[in-house]
Amino acid sequence: MTENIKKIIEEKLSKILLPNKKNLIEEEIIEGISYKDGHIQISLFANKDNIEEIEVVGKLLKKELQNIEGVISVTTVLTNEPVKKSTSSTKEDKKQTIQKINNVKKIIAIASGKGGVGKSTISINLASAFSLMGKNVGILDADIHGPSVPHMLGLKGKPEVNSDKKIIPFEFNSMKVMSIGFLLNEEQPVVWRGPMVHSAIKQMATETDWGELDLLIIDMPPGTGDAQITVSQHLPLDGAVIVSTPQPVALNDAVKAIGMFRKVDIPIIGVIENMSYLLLEDGKKEDIFGTDGAKNMSEKEKIFFIEEIPLDKEIRESSDKGNPYIFEKPDGITKDIFLKAAEKIEKII
Ligand SMILES: Nc1ncnc2c1ncn2[C@@H]1O[C@H](COP(=O)(O)OP(=O)(O)OP(=O)(O)O)[C@@H](O)[C@H]1O
Ligand SMILES: [Mg+2]
Repeated sequence: MTENIKKIIEEKLSKILLPNKKNLIEEEIIEGISYKDGHIQISLFANKDNIEEIEVVGKLLKKELQNIEGVISVTTVLTNEPVKKSTSSTKEDKKQTIQKINNVKKIIAIASGKGGVGKSTISINLASAFSLMGKNVGILDADIHGPSVPHMLGLKGKPEVNSDKKIIPFEFNSMKVMSIGFLLNEEQPVVWRGPMVHSAIKQMATETDWGELDLLIIDMPPGTGDAQITVSQHLPLDGAVIVSTPQPVALNDAVKAIGMFRKVDIPIIGVIENMSYLLLEDGKKEDIFGTDGAKNMSEKEKIFFIEEIPLDKEIRESSDKGNPYIFEKPDGITKDIFLKAAEKIEKII
């Protein structure tokens, strides 16, 4: 952060008073501030008792900081960490808030802007491909609002806790699997607030006994909300794979997701185009959602194009059966595409 901007921000912050007449810095409500290319992001500590108050503070902050010359956007994120007493938390930068995950060599996120484009399908099949390549793999389902990994891997039940108070993940063909779906009652909808999303994802990532992993694949929810911010800012991500269908509506959202990862300096590994074409029984291809949309977008965004995956009935059927396609159909035509995609990703990370 340039010193000048930092000073201006701190000065503005010191003038925002809470109902107890203390300012935000005195009350140690700010977890961290980052500033890059005109974009300010501020994380604020909140808990269930003060969340409403902090949300108001967030809005006020945005209004105040938006007026600083050169500032393009101001984003506030609520986190529910305990307030630190000894240090001035405004001095923390992003790197210091990143939580290490022991014994996990690489972590990648599978993300998209639009929902339903196949992130979960690709997460479980890529993980399976890496596993076939001899890697120790973990899958973290970070889709707090609609976890689908348990269903796609046919896993059910509540995870146990070991003597170190770490969650013992489920296993599928030697892959370690953790999902919020294991912890929630399926019938009970949960209304997630920002800080809850943050702590649930962080806890699943850092308090699961993953063992020794070569790779942890994080299946993200759609969009660029609290979950994305938590994963990209608080976990040591090595990169993100963007999934899109070839349709303009999905591509526009994919570009937004790319923008978000770039903003927080997470490398984009590449783009996977899903449902690129319909694989007909006679082996012919039919472009249902348009032709080469994601390929063209990746060229424009100067991002590596990983692979195109067909719309294949057997992929959907195997997911619904609870077995990843590449295990269910060991001779399937699309299996090689997932394996090639995994090899390319491995080379890049
Ligand atoms: N290549 C494909 N061929 C056939 N069906 C597919 C393919 N990819 C995904 N599907 C199916 O499309 C549906 C949506 O896929 P999936 O759940 O993986 O998307 P998602 O991006 O994770 O969705 P969400 O945003 O809700 O998390 C699922 O029923 C899945 O089985
Ligand atoms: Mg999903």
